[in-house]
Amino acid sequence: MRIIEQIGEMQAWNDLKRREGKRIVLVPTMGFLHEGHLGLIREGKRHGDSLVVSLFVNPTQFAPTEDYQGYPRDFGRDRELLKKEQVDILFHPSVEEIYPEGFQTSVEVEKLSPLLCGAFRPGHFRGVATVVAKLLNIVRPHAAVFGAKDYQQLQIIRRMVEDLNFDVEIVSHETVREEDGLAMSSRNIYLNAEERCVALSLSRSLRRGRSLVEQGERKRAPIIQAVQAEIEKELLARIEYVSLCHPTTLQEVDEIGAEAVLALAVRIGKARLIDNIVLRP
Ligand code: PAJ
Repeated sequence: MRIIEQIGEMQAWNDLKRREGKRIVLVPTMGFLHEGHLGLIREGKRHGDSLVVSLFVNPTQFAPTEDYQGYPRDFGRDRELLKKEQVDILFHPSVEEIYPEGFQTSVEVEKLSPLLCGAFRPGHFRGVATVVAKLLNIVRPHAAVFGAKDYQQLQIIRRMVEDLNFDVEIVSHETVREEDGLAMSSRNIYLNAEERCVALSLSRSLRRGRSLVEQGERKRAPIIQAVQAEIEKELLARIEYVSLCHPTTLQEVDEIGAEAVLALAVRIGKARLIDNIVLRP
């Protein structure tokens, strides 16, 4: 595995690969890798010949009050995991390389970004869209893989790629969970043993929502209420939102049509956790 830190070197590499007729796949990450990330990497292998994983904790997607400084990092461990997965390139730029002095351009996906998580994290998705646009231009992959765990992020990136004509296929990979249902996340490290138990209420509440739909419920209110009630049983859990929304516009729906997404964000201790499931009656 080659480690590349410079944009110029990354572009020279993809130039060469493209001339050799190779199909390049990118998996963007912020590191502190877990089985969710590894799931994306294995999915990525099925979509091309050369796999690039980027590891960059992107400061512009964190608000000043958020956990940028404290975001978990372990470069040595990540590097070994990626070697084991036989990744071709680990792209690991510095903050100065990505945001040199004078940097001032951003990408705003206007309608999708203020919804759901965006209402609680103003500016977050501008940072995400901007860095992903840059990574797509730097790595120039034929395909890029994103997790369905960050459902809104995935939809925003799909929209950006379509609106700005990025010549890349966006591949999504299902949410990877612990055996007990907790969606894997780098931020799960913030949970102590008691909070880790409380965190199970997220996936439990989504399963509760799904089972109502399986029993024939289609209306918004009873589904949202059941999900909220399941989480509110836990005194340490503070709900930010529970949403039942359209799968691509993310607009709230009154009734489930062919497909809807049940998505939520909950604070437990110092962790902010998100989860979702797609409902297809
Ligand atoms: P990060 O949180 O490191 O996640 C990197 C990728 O892994 C994202 O596509 C995310 O959706 C996916 N992922 C995380 N946990 C997952 C899980 N349990 N199951 C499936 N996929 C999972 O998301 C980011 O970084 C950043 O916003 C980034 C896109 C890299 C831009 O900075």
